[in-house]
Amino acid sequence: MRIMIIGGGGREHALAHLLARSNRVSEILCVPGNAGTAAVSTNVSIDVSDHAALIDFARESGVELTVVGPEAPLCQGVVDAFEAEGLRIFGPTAAAARIEGDKAYAKRLMKIAHVPTAEARIFEHHDAARAYVATRDAGVVVKAAGLAAGKGVIVCSDPADALNELERIMVDRAFGDAGNTVVVEELLKGQELSVFALVDGQTIYVLETAQDHKALGEGDTGPNTGGMGAYSPAPIATPEIMAQVERDVLVPIVDALRNDGAPYRGLLYTGLMLTAAGPKVLEFNCRFGDPEAQAVLLRLESDLFELLNATVHGTLDEVDVRFSPKPAVCVVMASGGYPGKYDSGKVIKGLDKASAMSDVCVFHAGTKTLEDLVVSSGGRVLGVTALGDDLADAKRRAYEAVDAIEFEDSYVRRDIADKALGRHLPT
Ligand code: AMP
Ligand code: GLY
Repeated sequence: MRIMIIGGGGREHALAHLLARSNRVSEILCVPGNAGTAAVSTNVSIDVSDHAALIDFARESGVELTVVGPEAPLCQGVVDAFEAEGLRIFGPTAAAARIEGDKAYAKRLMKIAHVPTAEARIFEHHDAARAYVATRDAGVVVKAAGLAAGKGVIVCSDPADALNELERIMVDRAFGDAGNTVVVEELLKGQELSVFALVDGQTIYVLETAQDHKALGEGDTGPNTGGMGAYSPAPIATPEIMAQVERDVLVPIVDALRNDGAPYRGLLYTGLMLTAAGPKVLEFNCRFGDPEAQAVLLRLESDLFELLNATVHGTLDEVDVRFSPKPAVCVVMASGGYPGKYDSGKVIKGLDKASAMSDVCVFHAGTKTLEDLVVSSGGRVLGVTALGDDLADAKRRAYEAVDAIEFEDSYVRRDIADKALGRHLPT
């Protein structure tokens, strides 16, 4: 079967790597892909926001299933466009993807479904938002409601900072229309947990857990990034917590989406804060998390194609999902300067040596091929991922592979997984 993957980051390389292992998959086409996906698939250069071009290409190439990695095409309705043409595609419709693309909608739906989440107010006018924040004496989180490439959430320990952020978003329009509506919510304390679930409209299949490291600096300091590393499973997610998440979060939100005329089909990502008062939802995403997908998928022993296909078909209740008990750690190698300005085009050395290490997979994120060299082409460059006998072993192997790779000005956090290893006090 011929598969097309939309996207070109570490998550998409991990999806391609797993799909290439399926004996049901004969060929993978990746749009646009990166230097890593080129090893297991054929990269194709098409603008992923041009749905008509994607559909024409899928038809001409005999693609039987398309898998969408990132949120933007999902929120823009790529699934609706493919389905209208009778083409099979993995991911939620635009209406269901609103759970990520419109944080005000997600908040309202959580309220209706009684899903535990931070107390929040929704504003469309700067004056009203300002007046509300001025009455707060504890920290708040300001969120642009629309998609803002991961930059639209600002945690403000001091409410005075929130006033500046409101002005930046609602008056200076730092995120354009994505900031037309703003959610202001209470600042939650605790450890974060990422939960992936496959949802076929009806059945919910919870996959293994992971923990991301959003902050740039060690000890969770500095600005937020797309994610500097992840590990799976997250030992903090006890069976009791997972049962609570399934019962109080996943079941009611999937029901609420269906009742709202937007049945969810695809991967539903729940970002939670494990607070003293129990798990509370920070956000929903309409796709696999990145870099959590690299850690979770490397542990998958079942055939990924069968899982994605069953999700599209509405037959998830018939599949059996197996994961390796071995934990995985993914360490992101980034370009110096990220998430601010950084240089690209740095030659990456040592990839073969690192990839040859046992139980190691070097997933490419921002890379491209230049003649016969692999060079950096983005902020997050690689997701160096390893399995281990235990978490400490996975961490050791991942960093051994990181140390075999070199490019000018590279940056890595050295403390990925330390939270779970007890070397870092929970915040
Ligand atoms: P994003 O994935 O870009 O939406 O980033 C959201 C991040 O902001 C989360 O992973 C948390 O670290 C942080 N965050 C969001 N909402 C809250 C909240 N209510 N309290 C504390 N931190 C939050
Ligand atoms: N790792 C967080 C995200 O994918 O949004």
